[in-house]
Amino acid sequence: MGKVLVIGCGGVAGVAIRKCAQNDSVFTEICIASRTESKCIALKEKLAGKTRAVITTATVNADSVESLVALINKVRPDVVLNLALPYQDLTIMDACLATGVHYIDTANFEAEDTEDPAWRAIYEKRCKELGFSAYFDYSWQWAYQDRFRKAGLTALLGTGFDPGVTSVFTAYAQKHYFDQIETIDILDCNGGDHGYPFATNFNPEINLREVSAPGSYWENGKWIEIPAMSIKREYNFEQVGMKDMYLLHHEEIESLAKNIPGVKRIRFFMTFGQSYLTHMKCLENVGMLRTDPVMLNGQEIVPIQLLKALLPDPASLGPRTVGKTNIGCIFTGIKDGRKRSLKIYNVCDHQESYREVESQAISYTTGVPAMIGTMMVMEGLWKKPGVFTVEEFDPDPYMEALNKWGLPWMVDENPVLVD
Ligand SMILES: NC(=O)c1ccc[n+]([C@@H]2O[C@H](COP(=O)([O-])OP(=O)(O)OC[C@H]3O[C@@H](n4cnc5c(N)ncnc54)[C@H](OP(=O)(O)O)[C@@H]3O)[C@@H](O)[C@H]2O)c1
Repeated sequence: MGKVLVIGCGGVAGVAIRKCAQNDSVFTEICIASRTESKCIALKEKLAGKTRAVITTATVNADSVESLVALINKVRPDVVLNLALPYQDLTIMDACLATGVHYIDTANFEAEDTEDPAWRAIYEKRCKELGFSAYFDYSWQWAYQDRFRKAGLTALLGTGFDPGVTSVFTAYAQKHYFDQIETIDILDCNGGDHGYPFATNFNPEINLREVSAPGSYWENGKWIEIPAMSIKREYNFEQVGMKDMYLLHHEEIESLAKNIPGVKRIRFFMTFGQSYLTHMKCLENVGMLRTDPVMLNGQEIVPIQLLKALLPDPASLGPRTVGKTNIGCIFTGIKDGRKRSLKIYNVCDHQESYREVESQAISYTTGVPAMIGTMMVMEGLWKKPGVFTVEEFDPDPYMEALNKWGLPWMVDENPVLVD
């Protein structure tokens, strides 16, 4: 049916590309392009003989619009799936506009250099106006709305698990179970154990920035910000057990607050063990999470990048991670004049994921929805000019695809609520 150009060849891309290769009646051609082409070639070789899709590879600097435009013009894909880092979202969107190609990603834009005065001025204004201080937000990509609309192109933002599947669960609950959703609690539980004292399940820089930032939630039309990790709850997760979870800021809160009319409160919780939190606090206290360069022996070093080089590569955690993830949403609201509550969730097994695609469940639960979102655009089911998050489309075909492609979901009509 069509050709996808995937940018990035890390943990998430490794899964998404394997899933595209399985789905070769839709993805008949796949070009894998990244900074380090050897990783793309290695993946292509692994897939040889296992798919009818024609796979090619390329090298690209996704920080350069010029380099991206040259690649897209050479490959001529139907869609670009951005699985590089959030730092590259805007350059890749610019290149898609310049070449007339649809755009898809899994994480909203974040500036790499948070000390850049031009970026900081806009950031500080946004902190004041909106009331949350995370380094990432949708404003940068929503600003492309008119340009994508005028160009007749679709930009589908945030088709991972969270954001992504959690937002589709919300659209599904809204469509089939509620007249009015009043509260949404997104619960992200990783019950996996990799056996290392400390490692992150996806890109350490992105992951550590996210969890060391102040938490925030949406209530009665505004953001409420709290110190990092200061709201803790316990929850008994199906197939995982009792876990501590902490309230974090998370990007889908921003788009759901905009797209679910009348919602009163949206919160996001993620589970962490005490050892993970102690390691992170220590690293933060000694400056290892800093994203600005420091001088060492006459050379500039960014501490968090050095930390990334020292920590286990998330892609290497697959064979040793055991246990399950349980990620989903609890909704409360009104249906036919009566109060109701509902949980929709998925449980994913780390070892089963590894057996299927040589990757643990964190990359699996992101890579599968990345493929599905791309398929929705390629098949024309989710195609309209402009910039959209996933809850803005009909959830039904996506929910069906989750069951088919490895992320089956369950509905609990009597869930335990979070206080
Ligand atoms: N929505 C969700 O649920 C969710 C969950 C997890 C992750 N994510 C997002 O998924 C994306 C990928 O995460 P990951 O864990 O797969 O990260 P990763 O393993 O670090 O992979 C990133 C890939 O991008 C490539 N890359 C980085 N900078 C580049 C540049 N300037 N030009 C070209 N290629 C570049 C890297 O190349 P090298 O190999 O040369 O380093 C690497 O192949 C991130 O945006 C992350 O935030 C979303």
